[in-house]
Amino acid sequence: MRQSLLPPSRRAGKGRKALARPSVLAERIERAHSLDPVVHSLSDSVVRALPAGPRTDALHGVPFGQPAHPALVRLPLGCWTSAVLLDLFRGTERASAVLIAAGVAGTAPAAATGLADWSALHQDQQRVGLVHAICQAGAATLFLGSLAARAGGRTGAGRALSASGLALASVGAYFGGHLALRLGAGTSHAEQVSHLSGLGWHDLCDLSELPDRRPVRRQLGYLSLLVYRQGSEVSVLSDRCSHLGGPLHQGRIVVERGAACVACPWHGSTFVIADGTVVHGPATARQPSFETRVTASGRIELRPRP
Ligand code: FES
Repeated sequence: MRQSLLPPSRRAGKGRKALARPSVLAERIERAHSLDPVVHSLSDSVVRALPAGPRTDALHGVPFGQPAHPALVRLPLGCWTSAVLLDLFRGTERASAVLIAAGVAGTAPAAATGLADWSALHQDQQRVGLVHAICQAGAATLFLGSLAARAGGRTGAGRALSASGLALASVGAYFGGHLALRLGAGTSHAEQVSHLSGLGWHDLCDLSELPDRRPVRRQLGYLSLLVYRQGSEVSVLSDRCSHLGGPLHQGRIVVERGAACVACPWHGSTFVIADGTVVHGPATARQPSFETRVTASGRIELRPRP
């Protein structure tokens, strides 16, 4: 294969700069410390407004077992895309206006769930999330302006504002995708237990080695495990929190709904120690857990729970 000897800037054409890929821009935003004052103050306000509890858990999507935000953003994006397409045809002004209004109304639940998730992210993720939110707020404002223009009989201006709003919403969606798919916000960070441990029972350690009612970390091959002993009963969870990978063995032991639970030291996600059920978010994915048994010689054996 022939390779160009020109430096990249020359290959792009004399006097013209090479087009940066959008992912390069997103990576710059990840490192944009100038955003931090806004990130900190907004994050503090959201945390104050959304204390831990059932309402915040619902915003994270705990009852559904998945983050609620990705599902809810479909309403505004779908309505706005449809409205802009309808604008290409005659006699569709009323239908377009209805779709725009429905999309604007749909931004409220989408923003509430997005802010709840955003407030429990790492700082690089929050910087990208902030730009994503600014784009979507700007898009909603343009669509509101479009509605006002249409109501005032300025249909051409209304169509132009809608098209601009959709373009900005698409840029925001790109940063949302970067946040979820590149930076892993909203995906499970628990170790892939079924891929990392073999089938059948595995020997772990002696029961007498474990302190009573104090979580400890043990290693099983590549897997880090939280091990918790209560008398002769031993519970084992994957140690990497499914939210963003926090070390669960450093978490607090609490009792919720009558069951011993572990609260993650990073953002407070709370899991039932016996089976990894999520009690409180921001995590929504169940923490992988293991069945255990104690042999006659006092050794603990475990296998992944199906
Ligand atoms: S890493 Fe966020 S709650 Fe565990």
